[in-house]
Amino acid sequence: MTSLTATVPPDTLIRPLHIRPLDAPLGAEVLGLDLSRPVEADDFARIHRAHLDHHLLVFRSQRIAPAQQIAFSRRFGPLQIHVLRQFQLAGHPEILVVSNVVENGQPIGLGDAGHFWHSDLSYKERPSLGSMLHAQELPAEGGDTLFANMHTAWDSLPAHLKRAVDGRRAEHTYLKQYEALRQRSPWRPKLTDDQLAEVQPVLHPVVRTHPETGRKALFVSEHFTTRIDGLPEDESRELLDALFAHSVRPEHVYRHVWQAHDMVFWDNRSLMHLAAGCPDHLRRRLNRTTIEGDLPF
Ligand code: SIN
Repeated sequence: MTSLTATVPPDTLIRPLHIRPLDAPLGAEVLGLDLSRPVEADDFARIHRAHLDHHLLVFRSQRIAPAQQIAFSRRFGPLQIHVLRQFQLAGHPEILVVSNVVENGQPIGLGDAGHFWHSDLSYKERPSLGSMLHAQELPAEGGDTLFANMHTAWDSLPAHLKRAVDGRRAEHTYLKQYEALRQRSPWRPKLTDDQLAEVQPVLHPVVRTHPETGRKALFVSEHFTTRIDGLPEDESRELLDALFAHSVRPEHVYRHVWQAHDMVFWDNRSLMHLAAGCPDHLRRRLNRTTIEGDLPF
């Protein structure tokens, strides 16, 4: 597993645009781009290409407002609204607040987001293309986010496991870990009938093809994937456990150590992620936008 702790020079936002791959199984830093200004078409094309090549981009020192994060996210596709409406940023339903902060007895954001490895919104018929997470308040200790490269996970999967899953589909449901999380956190209200209707289980290929690069990636997660369709329960369980364990081996994983005003944009078609957590008494708050993707194939 690789993490990056290098300090960022003060000229981070000064042009020219520079994309610097991380010394990690995925990811690149974007320097020389200020997202509070309109991004020109040629810069946008380079960002788009880098996102496909590296699967995760870290934009350093971005002092942008929520509306600017939303506008930049929209350039990649329509935005998805999270089912837990109470954690929307006031006035900006496109932003899900990810935070452990409680104010006046009320959590201001989803405090246990990312508690299990997952790809955002894989439980939807059209899962997410990518997510942007913009740091607002960071704890002095902990709070890292881990990302696993699901292309290299697929490429390096033992042949007998490839044969066992290629061409199969798996069920994803938002509810898989919901009750377990509800037992121990203040962030999971009982879902209404309308919310339950929004998160009906779906079937997706276990191995998906990236719609823009054609690369194959494993597409199952401990957070949302319940079973492999058409297999006996015990066989499905055993296979999924093997896939989960293989996907998050250290050689596939990058650990992001957040710096002030980082904005991280990752590809949910290529990666899974996990929030490492931080001590409860330390405040952590980030704004997330989620871009809708294609039907997986
Ligand atoms: C998420 O899963 O969207 C949040 C990840 C994090 O809090 O690091």
